[in-house]
Amino acid sequence: MDPLTHPLLDEATVRQIREAVLADETSWQDGRKSAGYQAAKVKNNLQLDRKSKTAKQASQQVIERLESDPLIKSFSLPRQIHGVMFSRAGIGQGYGMHVDNAYMSSGRSDLSFTLFLSEPESYEGGSLCIQTVQDSKHVKLPAGHVVVYPSTSLHAVETVTAGERLVCVGWIQSHICSNEDRTILFGLNAGARALLAEHGRSSELDLIFQAYTNLLRRLGD
Ligand code: NI
Repeated sequence: MDPLTHPLLDEATVRQIREAVLADETSWQDGRKSAGYQAAKVKNNLQLDRKSKTAKQASQQVIERLESDPLIKSFSLPRQIHGVMFSRAGIGQGYGMHVDNAYMSSGRSDLSFTLFLSEPESYEGGSLCIQTVQDSKHVKLPAGHVVVYPSTSLHAVETVTAGERLVCVGWIQSHICSNEDRTILFGLNAGARALLAEHGRSSELDLIFQAYTNLLRRLGD
Protein backbone atom coordinates (compact mmCIF):
# COMPACT_ATOMS: atom_id res chain seq x y z
CA MET A 1 0.00 0.00 0.00
CA ASP A 2 1.43 3.36 -1.08
CA PRO A 3 1.43 6.32 1.30
CA LEU A 4 -1.27 8.94 0.74
CA THR A 5 -0.30 12.61 0.81
CA HIS A 6 -3.04 15.19 1.12
CA PRO A 7 -3.63 18.85 2.11
CA LEU A 8 -5.43 18.93 5.46
CA LEU A 9 -5.23 22.34 7.17
CA ASP A 10 -5.53 25.84 5.73
CA GLU A 11 -2.77 28.38 6.31
CA ALA A 12 -4.52 30.19 9.17
CA THR A 13 -5.15 26.96 11.09
CA VAL A 14 -1.54 25.82 10.63
CA ARG A 15 -0.30 29.15 11.97
CA GLN A 16 -2.69 29.07 14.92
CA ILE A 17 -1.69 25.51 15.92
CA ARG A 18 2.03 26.19 15.41
CA GLU A 19 1.91 29.33 17.56
CA ALA A 20 -0.13 27.62 20.28
CA VAL A 21 2.16 24.59 20.67
CA LEU A 22 5.43 26.56 20.44
CA ALA A 23 4.22 29.12 23.01
CA ASP A 24 3.75 26.40 25.64
CA GLU A 25 7.51 26.23 26.38
CA THR A 26 7.33 24.30 29.63
CA SER A 27 5.36 21.33 28.22
CA TRP A 28 8.08 20.09 25.82
CA GLN A 29 9.94 16.97 26.93
CA ASP A 30 12.42 14.36 25.68
CA GLY A 31 10.77 12.17 23.01
CA ARG A 32 12.44 9.00 24.29
CA LYS A 33 9.87 8.89 27.10
CA SER A 34 7.16 7.66 24.73
CA ALA A 35 9.23 5.34 22.53
CA GLY A 36 9.22 1.55 22.68
CA TYR A 37 12.41 -0.26 23.74
CA GLN A 38 13.79 -0.69 20.21
CA ALA A 39 12.77 2.78 19.04
CA ALA A 40 14.13 4.64 22.09
CA LYS A 41 17.69 3.92 20.98
CA VAL A 42 17.26 5.80 17.70
CA LYS A 43 14.88 8.54 18.79
CA ASN A 44 16.11 12.08 19.36
CA ASN A 45 13.48 14.80 19.44
CA LEU A 46 11.21 16.86 21.68
CA GLN A 47 7.55 16.15 22.27
CA LEU A 48 4.75 18.22 23.70
CA ASP A 49 3.39 16.60 26.87
CA ARG A 50 0.18 14.87 25.77
CA LYS A 51 -1.46 15.66 29.07
CA SER A 52 -0.97 19.41 28.62
CA LYS A 53 -4.01 21.52 27.77
CA THR A 54 -2.28 22.85 24.67
CA ALA A 55 -1.62 19.36 23.33
CA LYS A 56 -5.16 18.18 24.05
CA GLN A 57 -6.73 21.13 22.26
CA ALA A 58 -4.47 21.02 19.21
CA SER A 59 -4.77 17.21 18.94
CA GLN A 60 -8.55 17.46 18.97
CA GLN A 61 -8.42 19.97 16.10
CA VAL A 62 -6.25 17.63 14.04
CA ILE A 63 -8.40 14.57 14.80
CA GLU A 64 -11.57 16.42 13.78
CA ARG A 65 -10.02 17.49 10.49
CA LEU A 66 -8.79 13.96 9.73
CA GLU A 67 -12.17 12.44 10.59
CA SER A 68 -14.08 14.83 8.37
CA ASP A 69 -11.88 14.41 5.30
CA PRO A 70 -13.62 12.09 2.78
CA LEU A 71 -10.41 10.97 1.05
CA ILE A 72 -8.60 10.12 4.29
CA LYS A 73 -11.69 8.38 5.59
CA SER A 74 -11.99 6.25 2.46
CA PHE A 75 -8.25 5.49 2.46
CA SER A 76 -7.91 4.59 6.14
CA LEU A 77 -11.43 3.50 7.26
CA PRO A 78 -10.75 4.82 10.76
CA ARG A 79 -12.15 3.16 13.84
CA GLN A 80 -10.18 5.53 16.06
CA ILE A 81 -7.44 8.10 15.63
CA HIS A 82 -5.15 7.96 18.64
CA GLY A 83 -1.77 8.67 20.21
CA VAL A 84 -1.64 12.11 18.60
CA MET A 85 1.42 14.13 19.57
CA PHE A 86 3.45 17.16 18.56
CA SER A 87 7.09 16.67 17.88
CA ARG A 88 10.02 19.00 17.18
CA ALA A 89 13.48 18.26 15.88
CA GLY A 90 16.21 20.89 15.82
CA ILE A 91 19.71 20.74 14.34
CA GLY A 92 21.29 17.32 14.89
CA GLN A 93 17.99 15.68 15.86
CA GLY A 94 16.02 13.03 13.99
CA TYR A 95 14.68 9.53 14.39
CA GLY A 96 16.51 6.47 13.05
CA MET A 97 14.93 3.54 11.21
CA HIS A 98 12.24 1.83 13.32
CA VAL A 99 8.81 0.28 13.21
CA ASP A 100 6.01 1.70 15.36
CA ASN A 101 4.62 -0.52 18.13
CA ALA A 102 1.64 -2.59 16.96
CA TYR A 103 -0.32 -2.04 20.17
CA MET A 104 -0.16 1.15 22.15
CA SER A 105 -2.04 2.06 25.29
CA SER A 106 -4.31 4.15 23.05
CA GLY A 107 -5.05 1.46 20.43
CA ARG A 108 -3.67 -0.63 17.56
CA SER A 109 -1.58 1.09 14.92
CA ASP A 110 -2.71 0.15 11.41
CA LEU A 111 -1.78 3.44 9.79
CA SER A 112 0.62 6.16 10.88
CA PHE A 113 0.36 9.81 9.91
CA THR A 114 2.65 12.83 9.93
CA LEU A 115 1.13 16.27 9.56
CA PHE A 116 3.80 18.80 8.61
CA LEU A 117 3.51 22.10 10.48
CA SER A 118 6.74 23.89 9.43
CA GLU A 119 7.22 25.31 5.96
CA PRO A 120 9.70 23.04 4.12
CA GLU A 121 11.97 26.03 3.34
CA SER A 122 12.39 26.75 7.05
CA TYR A 123 14.52 23.66 7.77
CA GLU A 124 16.96 21.31 6.06
CA GLY A 125 16.90 17.54 6.33
CA GLY A 126 13.95 16.22 8.35
CA SER A 127 12.33 14.22 5.54
CA LEU A 128 10.24 11.26 6.58
CA CYS A 129 11.77 8.20 4.87
CA ILE A 130 9.41 5.30 4.39
CA GLN A 131 11.13 2.09 3.36
CA THR A 132 9.69 0.22 0.40
CA VAL A 133 10.87 -3.14 -0.93
CA GLN A 134 13.88 -1.84 -2.86
CA ASP A 135 14.43 1.73 -1.76
CA SER A 136 12.80 4.38 0.38
CA LYS A 137 10.33 7.17 -0.25
CA HIS A 138 11.33 10.58 1.08
CA VAL A 139 8.43 12.73 2.20
CA LYS A 140 8.70 16.42 3.06
CA LEU A 141 5.44 18.29 2.57
CA PRO A 142 4.20 21.88 2.71
CA ALA A 143 2.86 23.01 6.10
CA GLY A 144 -0.71 21.76 6.57
CA HIS A 145 -0.23 18.64 4.41
CA VAL A 146 -0.41 15.14 5.83
CA VAL A 147 1.05 11.78 4.82
CA VAL A 148 -0.76 8.60 5.87
CA TYR A 149 1.16 5.31 5.51
CA PRO A 150 0.87 1.74 6.75
CA SER A 151 2.29 1.27 10.25
CA THR A 152 3.80 -1.98 9.01
CA SER A 153 6.55 0.04 7.24
CA LEU A 154 10.03 0.71 8.54
CA HIS A 155 10.55 4.46 8.59
CA ALA A 156 12.94 7.16 9.82
CA VAL A 157 13.21 10.91 10.14
CA GLU A 158 16.37 12.30 8.52
CA THR A 159 18.57 14.35 10.80
CA VAL A 160 17.73 18.05 10.70
CA THR A 161 20.76 20.08 9.56
CA ALA A 162 19.28 23.61 9.71
CA GLY A 163 16.21 25.22 11.26
CA GLU A 164 13.57 23.24 13.11
CA ARG A 165 10.99 20.68 12.03
CA LEU A 166 7.60 20.74 13.75
CA VAL A 167 5.08 17.99 13.02
CA CYS A 168 2.03 16.33 14.47
CA VAL A 169 2.10 12.54 14.36
CA GLY A 170 -0.44 9.92 15.32
CA TRP A 171 -2.00 6.57 14.51
CA ILE A 172 -5.16 5.25 12.99
CA GLN A 173 -6.74 2.03 14.12
CA SER A 174 -8.66 0.99 11.03
CA HIS A 175 -11.77 -1.13 10.71
CA ILE A 176 -9.62 -3.09 8.25
CA CYS A 177 -6.34 -4.40 9.66
CA SER A 178 -5.02 -5.82 6.38
CA ASN A 179 -3.28 -3.37 4.03
CA GLU A 180 -4.27 -5.51 1.08
CA ASP A 181 -7.98 -5.60 1.95
CA ARG A 182 -7.97 -1.87 2.68
CA THR A 183 -6.32 -1.13 -0.67
CA ILE A 184 -8.99 -3.11 -2.55
CA LEU A 185 -11.80 -1.34 -0.69
CA PHE A 186 -10.21 2.05 -1.33
CA GLY A 187 -10.00 1.36 -5.07
CA LEU A 188 -13.61 0.25 -5.23
CA ASN A 189 -14.83 3.25 -3.26
CA ALA A 190 -12.70 5.72 -5.26
CA GLY A 191 -14.05 4.34 -8.54
CA ALA A 192 -17.67 4.43 -7.39
CA ARG A 193 -17.32 7.95 -6.02
CA ALA A 194 -15.75 9.18 -9.25
CA LEU A 195 -18.67 7.67 -11.24
CA LEU A 196 -21.12 9.34 -8.89
CA ALA A 197 -19.41 12.72 -9.36
CA GLU A 198 -19.37 12.36 -13.13
CA HIS A 199 -22.76 10.81 -13.90
CA GLY A 200 -24.86 11.27 -10.76
CA ARG A 201 -26.87 8.56 -9.10
CA SER A 202 -28.01 5.42 -10.88
CA SER A 203 -29.42 2.07 -9.89
CA GLU A 204 -26.26 0.38 -11.20
CA LEU A 205 -24.14 2.56 -8.92
CA ASP A 206 -26.44 1.73 -6.01
CA LEU A 207 -25.50 -1.92 -6.55
CA ILE A 208 -21.78 -1.09 -6.46
CA PHE A 209 -22.15 0.93 -3.24
CA GLN A 210 -24.22 -1.87 -1.77
CA ALA A 211 -21.50 -4.42 -2.59
CA TYR A 212 -18.81 -2.07 -1.19
CA THR A 213 -20.70 -1.58 2.06
CA ASN A 214 -21.36 -5.28 2.48
CA LEU A 215 -17.74 -6.14 1.72
CA LEU A 216 -16.63 -3.58 4.33
CA ARG A 217 -19.02 -5.14 6.85
CA ARG A 218 -17.68 -8.62 6.07
CA LEU A 219 -13.97 -7.74 6.19
CA GLY A 220 -14.06 -5.19 9.00
CA ASP A 221 -13.89 -5.54 12.75
NI1 NI B 1 7.60 5.98 13.94
